[in-house]
Amino acid sequence: MEIKFNGTFEDWQKHARRLLRMRTLPAQIVWIAEDEQQSFLPGQAIGTGESGLAQPLLSANENPLRVPKRFITLARNVSAFRDAGRWNLLYSVLWRIAYENHHLLKIETDEQVIQLLRMEDAVSRDVHHVHAFVRFKKIVDVDGERYVAWYKPDHKSVWLAAPFFAARFASMRWSILTPDGSAHWDGKALSFSAGVPNPPNGGEDGLEQLWCRYYATIFNPARTNLRMMRSEMPQRFWQHMPELTNLPQILARAPDRVDQMIVQQKKMPGAAKYVPANADLALLRKTIPNCAGCELYKCATQPVFGEGPREARIVLIGEQPGDQEDRAGRPFVGPAGEVLDRALHEAGIERSTVYVTNAVKHFAFEERGKRRIHRTPRLSEVTACRPWLEAELKALAPEIVVCLGSTAAKAVFGATFRLTEQRGKFLKTRFATKTLATYHPSAILRADTPQARENLYSMLLHDLAVVADESGKSISQRASTPALAARTGAGENTLLR
Ligand code: URA
Ligand code: SF4
Repeated sequence: MEIKFNGTFEDWQKHARRLLRMRTLPAQIVWIAEDEQQSFLPGQAIGTGESGLAQPLLSANENPLRVPKRFITLARNVSAFRDAGRWNLLYSVLWRIAYENHHLLKIETDEQVIQLLRMEDAVSRDVHHVHAFVRFKKIVDVDGERYVAWYKPDHKSVWLAAPFFAARFASMRWSILTPDGSAHWDGKALSFSAGVPNPPNGGEDGLEQLWCRYYATIFNPARTNLRMMRSEMPQRFWQHMPELTNLPQILARAPDRVDQMIVQQKKMPGAAKYVPANADLALLRKTIPNCAGCELYKCATQPVFGEGPREARIVLIGEQPGDQEDRAGRPFVGPAGEVLDRALHEAGIERSTVYVTNAVKHFAFEERGKRRIHRTPRLSEVTACRPWLEAELKALAPEIVVCLGSTAAKAVFGATFRLTEQRGKFLKTRFATKTLATYHPSAILRADTPQARENLYSMLLHDLAVVADESGKSISQRASTPALAARTGAGENTLLR
């Protein structure tokens, strides 16, 4: 008989209990762990259960047979062993404990017991490796700081290893990604979610990018997912975890990097301390040259602050200054600015009536010979710079905010925002009741084919026309108000031909 289960100890335990009661012989069962055929579904909580660890496998009133506590601990540990045969072996030993010899585990010469103990040993060593070798990297995203690591244990050890980190780093938020599953700590509870099969790409940003992609899959679209997937592991369970019985020793030789991590955590990066409170635009503009909120000021020529009338009802947010903006000290004056000006004009918005700024105020680039090549700002840089953007938006209190491109959209809506899915829609944010994201003018310049360029431009134009119409409903800022369709229809767009 095939028994399909979700690959967790708890689910195996549930089936085993029932089969044992029915006196199903081990040889009659083929255990099929479904997680070993496919990866865990995102959001699926794994590895904890209401059954608890210390309960007898069979409670007294359902069956007089009881199983030693040690078996439960052993079985839980062995369930992390990477071998499909472990479930059969566990059931076989369970059967023998129940019907042949309650003290079977004490018989250390028993072939099956030996096998189980060897498996447990391997898992236990692996759990210690996870404790010792996991390297966290601090990632500052729009929700704050989180320490993230990717690690590939030999066995499915992340569930057993996680409580150690929860105890050690109780006040921090962290995530450990492994191919079999991922563990998360939010300061209060552990939760587990889908695995991440491949390591991050090399380079400083690899893990950050990996995390962003992963975060989007497990936490999107609404944070409610997080709550749904959260499965609490009460502290009282931890004491039953064998590898935690020697927690004090492990803590005693906690390596320096742990302390470094805590020291690092206290250093507050970002522009916050450079931004004067409740400042008007003039004061913000005057103080921004003092900012050292991230590394970018070191190589750029100057900060590029926003530009436009204080009364503007529409604020446009780009990514960061480009090469020409960096030299001129003004936003959108280079090639992307030309595209933007044209699109604004065609949409019926005069650029002089809107306020234009960027998510990041200093130019991020890489040097190739004499050329400075635009580099997309890191999430940490966007986050570092956000206090300036917030202060600007607070001073302006606009009716409509338009995010040009994904960097600006992430700065405003959060790191999980997906431009391709959510562009062109008015959404409410704390910056403006009407906040919308659309393509960046540079995306049009970078498009591979004339057709792609055309498509992107017409989407940008369409979205700006929507903005124009919306703002026209309250305050008229436009030179003229031709119908939306006429402005965005075929034949109108001559810019890129
Ligand atoms: N791209 C941007 O995002 N902003 C500028 O100011 C120029 C190019
Ligand atoms: Fe400050 Fe922003 Fe410049 Fe970084 S990019 S130094 S946070 S102004």
